[in-house]
Amino acid sequence: MPTEPPLPVPDFLYGTAWKEDRTPALTELALRMGFRGIDTANQRRHYFEAGVGQGMAAAYRTGLVARNDLFLQTKFTYQPGQGHRLPYDPAASLSVQVAQSMASSLDHLASDHVDSYVLHGPASNHDWTDADAEAWEAMRKERDTGRTRLLGVSNVSLRHLRQMAAARAELPAFVQNRCYARLGWDRAMRLFCRQHKIIYQGFSLLTANQEVLNHPLIASLAASANATPAQVVFSFARAVGILPLTGTSNAEHMKQDLASRDIALPRESVQAIESLAG
Ligand SMILES: NC(=O)c1ccc[n+]([C@@H]2O[C@H](COP(=O)([O-])OP(=O)(O)OC[C@H]3O[C@@H](n4cnc5c(N)ncnc54)[C@H](OP(=O)(O)O)[C@@H]3O)[C@@H](O)[C@H]2O)c1
Repeated sequence: MPTEPPLPVPDFLYGTAWKEDRTPALTELALRMGFRGIDTANQRRHYFEAGVGQGMAAAYRTGLVARNDLFLQTKFTYQPGQGHRLPYDPAASLSVQVAQSMASSLDHLASDHVDSYVLHGPASNHDWTDADAEAWEAMRKERDTGRTRLLGVSNVSLRHLRQMAAARAELPAFVQNRCYARLGWDRAMRLFCRQHKIIYQGFSLLTANQEVLNHPLIASLAASANATPAQVVFSFARAVGILPLTGTSNAEHMKQDLASRDIALPRESVQAIESLAG
């Protein structure tokens, strides 16, 4: 069980996907550059969660940070989203799979709890199914026994969340979605989140929105703020209530991404970016 007062949710999350053998060094570097929120998943196909634990351990050894300085988020991933390296027995029930995946995550991360536990994606793109209800209930149990502080869902639609609400399921503390500018930066989902006090985490803010990064408005805002287009996008995201993720592997970009917190865009510019592409 967490023994210290809970850490507030940080204002930037460092994403650890697709880093393979570089995961330990990049996680440690991100902590050294100032990130305090880490996003990972017990999905070996795209993440090396044990490597995240190694990076954190290296940062602990040098006295840079302690566990309680960090906000750690990981995920439960259904079998179809996994490769052959599973963190649970695929023949077990979903409830057992959740418990086994969590135990494996805590082992990888050398902690007795995470701060946020996220359902990586619902079982169906269309509906919130009985399988999701079972996994979510098991995740709630993990929360109630102190192995996570908060719960989240990822890759969800409004329909999923409305069905959760209709089934009187507890709503998540976080939604983590790919954020497309052409969908008004997930406008409808962000509105639902605001109405239900859910924190919206946005990923692929740069990679899904290349046309925005190249747009003359962003270029001119970047020039007047003495910033880069990527910094303008992160600053905009925060201004509209998005908790951004970055998975940069570059130290200079880490610095720039964090420095975007100091850029204050004029309100009318924020509004213009919000409807730039959709
Ligand atoms: N829930 C899910 O299903 C899901 C799916 C995808 C991602 N995620 C999470 O979100 C994290 C972030 O993923 P992402 O999809 O947003 O992509 P990403 O891995 O963060 O890629 C960002 C790209 O933008 C570049 N970049 C970052 N900062 C920059 C800057 N200041 N200037 C210029 N380029 C910059 C990076 O290049 P450099 O490396 O050269 O900087 C990289 O090519 C992942 O690591 C993962 O934790 C979750």
